[in-house]
Amino acid sequence: MPTLPVRMSTHKALVLHARDQPLILETVPQPISSTGDAIVRILAADIVPYMGDVISNKRPYPLSVPMTPGNTAIGRIHEVGPDAVDLTPGQLVFCDITIRARDNPAVSILYGVHGGGYPAAQKLMDGVWRNATYAEYARFPLENLYRLDEALLLGPLGYSINDLCLLPVCLVPFGGLSEVGLKPGEVVIVAPATGRYGGAAVNIALAMGATVIAGGRNQTMLEKLKSIHVTNRLRTVRITGDTAADTELFRTATGKPDGADVYLDLSPPAVQGSSLLASGIRSLRAFGRCVVMGGNSGNLDFPYLEIMFKSIRIQGRFMYDRQHVQQMIQMVESGLLPLGSKSGVSQTKVFGLEEIQQALESAAKLSGWGEHVVLKP
Ligand SMILES: NC(=O)c1ccc[n+]([C@@H]2O[C@H](COP(=O)([O-])OP(=O)(O)OC[C@H]3O[C@@H](n4cnc5c(N)ncnc54)[C@H](OP(=O)(O)O)[C@@H]3O)[C@@H](O)[C@H]2O)c1
Repeated sequence: MPTLPVRMSTHKALVLHARDQPLILETVPQPISSTGDAIVRILAADIVPYMGDVISNKRPYPLSVPMTPGNTAIGRIHEVGPDAVDLTPGQLVFCDITIRARDNPAVSILYGVHGGGYPAAQKLMDGVWRNATYAEYARFPLENLYRLDEALLLGPLGYSINDLCLLPVCLVPFGGLSEVGLKPGEVVIVAPATGRYGGAAVNIALAMGATVIAGGRNQTMLEKLKSIHVTNRLRTVRITGDTAADTELFRTATGKPDGADVYLDLSPPAVQGSSLLASGIRSLRAFGRCVVMGGNSGNLDFPYLEIMFKSIRIQGRFMYDRQHVQQMIQMVESGLLPLGSKSGVSQTKVFGLEEIQQALESAAKLSGWGEHVVLKP
């Protein structure tokens, strides 16, 4: 591991020494900034529901131990490296954990969550980018830190730091919908829309000016989405699991004879063998776009000829890019994209570093859109 400069001062961090052991709260040397990075005081980190499984290796994401895990966070710049030209100590920032190799941006890791699993990515995690945000302080590449207008967000817009932790949940579907160029006035089918990212996708797609067809099995959650977003640009479809029936339901809901413009698929691993993707693709118009963003670990079942005859585009998308983060922050700061209770997230559970086990257990129980769990180091 390369040696980084460390100062004599210390901070508290949760350290994972082995995947079969719990996180330990330790007092460790505080990181010190160097060229190309900044040290951030972590104010709040969003805990993703599956984080307990990652730490325990039930979800065997590659991680190099010992390390400090973490998720996307909101922080305050503590100090910056000598080449920073925009960021200054004291600024409120969004800390993005998608770290890309500077000499090959195709190589990426999720800082504190997933080490890529191939040698080039592992080199990133093994070295400088090992200790993430479940700590009082964390090092970030300068390009992963985004200035937030604190006065506006916490003032007239009425948000809390916890509300801002919802940014990464909305960013994932925004990355996919931007990738396929969703435009105002277009019709997008989001399915399943009843999960955490599905609920966020409905929120962001409406803010992008689209009409949204939210599909899912859970009628209660579909009703909840309708009660959150009181607009005739949101329609819901209770899916049946039958390809032909679901295609018909989606197509009818679009209200357009040719079908939807975009289909966003967020199928989780549990949908093995499901026909949802086929129904979504079949509901698209000619030259329609399908973006695949779920964690389905199986193979895709495509209506082959239909894709060819209708010139359908199928696009995978992992996370998002820097311009998506910048655009989304503008959407929030302009009031276009609501967060927190304005977006239907009415319950936030907050935990300190010493309560990490309860925090992970609480996050694991999250389902759908409406609650979130935040760690406040
Ligand atoms: N591309 C990326 O960069 C990226 C980033 C983050 C997450 N993801 C992926 O996005 C996916 C969604 O994540 P999430 O956190 O939103 O999941 P989640 O909150 O657990 O929601 C899962 C959704 O899938 C539905 N579902 C489960 N089994 C189903 C089935 N057999 N048929 C139809 N619907 C079914 C659930 O609906 P019910 O209520 O009906 O069960 C629920 O709406 C995950 O697989 C995750 O890996 C991708």
